[in-house]
Amino acid sequence: MTPIDFADRSPGPDEAVSTKSERENQGFDTPAAVALSPLIGRDAELRLLEDRWEQVLEGQGQTVLIFGEPGLGKSRLVQTIVGMIQENDGAASAGEPRPLVIEWRCAEHFQNSELYPVSNCMNRLLGFGVDESPSVRFERLARYLEGYGLDSPESVGLFAKLLFLPADDRYSAAGLTPAREREETFRVLRQWIDACAAKRPALFIVEDLHWSDASTLEFLGQLISSGVRGGILTILTFRPEFKIPWPAASHQTVLALNRLSRRQVTEWMRTGSSKALPESLVTQIYRRTGGVPLLVEEFTRMVRESVVDGPVGAGSGTETTSVMGRLDRMACDREIAWLTATLGHRFDYELLAATATAGETTLRAELTKLVSAGVLYSKGQWPRCSYVFKHGLVEEALYTAIDEQKRRQFHQRIAEAMEEQFPKAAEIEPELLAEHCTKAG
Ligand SMILES: Nc1ncnc2c1ncn2[C@@H]1O[C@H](COP(=O)(O)OP(=O)(O)O)[C@@H](O)[C@H]1O
Ligand SMILES: [Mg+2]
Repeated sequence: MTPIDFADRSPGPDEAVSTKSERENQGFDTPAAVALSPLIGRDAELRLLEDRWEQVLEGQGQTVLIFGEPGLGKSRLVQTIVGMIQENDGAASAGEPRPLVIEWRCAEHFQNSELYPVSNCMNRLLGFGVDESPSVRFERLARYLEGYGLDSPESVGLFAKLLFLPADDRYSAAGLTPAREREETFRVLRQWIDACAAKRPALFIVEDLHWSDASTLEFLGQLISSGVRGGILTILTFRPEFKIPWPAASHQTVLALNRLSRRQVTEWMRTGSSKALPESLVTQIYRRTGGVPLLVEEFTRMVRESVVDGPVGAGSGTETTSVMGRLDRMACDREIAWLTATLGHRFDYELLAATATAGETTLRAELTKLVSAGVLYSKGQWPRCSYVFKHGLVEEALYTAIDEQKRRQFHQRIAEAMEEQFPKAAEIEPELLAEHCTKAG
């Protein structure tokens, strides 16, 4: 499979704004960059998604809603279809523009930040570097929007506001009432998405809708209810507890992701293993994981490490026990592991180093352990590298293990380091700093 690139790579306005940091950002936490266990099953789901893509190519916009419990493979399914579409597209129509992927990611800690997934996506697309001044960022944004015909002073002003860029006299959206500003922001966002799809077929992905802020949800409701948007395959993922607030429509398909069957778990346990596993072991694994891929993955790892006899049961506790157990066996420094979980789903090494009490050698050794324990993925060259948690559940398991007082101290230290040593990073992601300040108490 070709590497998944969650950004626009074909010639066009985006090329003009491409920077080193943008390239580094692209596809950052998409597992195509790391070794993945082979995909098991999901043939019917992939066929359905391929079929919907075909309709999109014929100008019939489609929406697919994928729901399932955490760890069931929603993100993996999305990544797989993106990879397939990009691969097929390259083979079928050399010279044709590649499909564009716009990915909005809702995040648990940003449910109160208005339109957070949009600003997060734009930040990634534009590749703002921490050492770039607001005026450089403003220029890049303006040039990007120009490529989509969205360069009216008001549009640029509204996008700039979403990205927390200071007001610029040339591009002003001032003078609007808050209600009007919201309406206008929704309008330019719709124009942006349509303009992307007008250039080439587009995949518009919104991950983890159960964590969306109210504005993002309202925007999506309006977008999807407004009917078929030609040239766009919209894929939304969410957990079962989330209820879709807009009505059903013929261009909208709901896809419930199921747990893997016993046969599929057996198939999984046999791939990558030269020795056939005893039937009793496969049964035990199936029973304990309940066919949830994330847990099967954990158990496969434990089987390889021959530690399946631990007191582990199915359910959310499994993840905690398994991760903690593995870290214990590796004699990891818990303080450092906890600190990483407090830093958030994705963090830069430099911020960790500024916050940790341990020195560089220790940090480096501990991070290597966390990566080999399957807790973190790493990206980039030391020391300007970043880390991302492999899965929210692993991050949560670590974070909840920290006692209240220590957790507050960690948040406090992180907030101070951001303010004192990384003011520009704090400027780019003010929500992140606000989050740490709030949790510091
Ligand atoms: N069908 C599958 N075959 C193999 N591995 C899978 C499958 N589905 C999910 N996984 C793996 O399980 C883990 C959790 O999947 P993920 O897509 O992150 O779950 P979700 O988004 O539903 O929370 C990932 O490491 C993923 O690669
Ligand atoms: Mg996911």
